[in-house]
Amino acid sequence: MITSFIFDLDGVITDTAEFHFKAWSALANKLDIPFSRDDNEQLKGVDRMGSLQFILDKSDQSFSETDKQALADEKNTLYQSMLDTMQPSDIFPGARELLEQLRARDFNIALASASKNARRVLDCLQITDAFDYIVDAANVRYGKPDPETFLTAAQGLKVAPLECVGIEDAQAGLESIIGAGMHSVGIGDAKTLKRAELVYPSIAALNLNEVLALGQSS
Ligand code: BG6
Ligand code: MG
Repeated sequence: MITSFIFDLDGVITDTAEFHFKAWSALANKLDIPFSRDDNEQLKGVDRMGSLQFILDKSDQSFSETDKQALADEKNTLYQSMLDTMQPSDIFPGARELLEQLRARDFNIALASASKNARRVLDCLQITDAFDYIVDAANVRYGKPDPETFLTAAQGLKVAPLECVGIEDAQAGLESIIGAGMHSVGIGDAKTLKRAELVYPSIAALNLNEVLALGQSS
């Protein structure tokens, strides 16, 4: 039986991918490294230093660990200045309603995000209190696709993985859910997220009865 829902943040509850794209583009441009929207797609669910390394790998220049930290900090400062423009209305249609519906039906609700800015984003959207437990990049040793992020969320809720549904828009995140032994729901393109048990084009399209039926055999 499903008792718990564990949500990714970026791309499931709100769209921060455009801010990440703009901030990484500015940095890549400064370093004379090409960075496209397709590149940005591959960085969904990938943590900050992993994303930076992906970009730096496209360059012949060499960077020390100190250089890398400074570049990651520079990108993050720019990204955070964009986050400061976020409003509660920037939540994806249907996300607030789904969280309210789950709360009313007494499901446990957690966040499993690869972002160190997760709490800041939740605060901007004014939905921090909607979550019983929050896992962000600061709470885990191994980021997505390692299962640790989703498993830590289940442990925080004190529930078994099989009682949980993980909801993700990124391939790396989906691998984390599957590795954790949870039921999986993809948000986005069914071709990219083909390993998910169910895929919906948006959080607004999620059919709760259909998702709950995943738990009937487990
Ligand atoms: C994930 C995003 O949620 O967070 C990635 O999908 C991003 O694109 C990662 O790189 C890390 O974010 P932050 O806020 O810690 O730099
Ligand atoms: Mg995501």
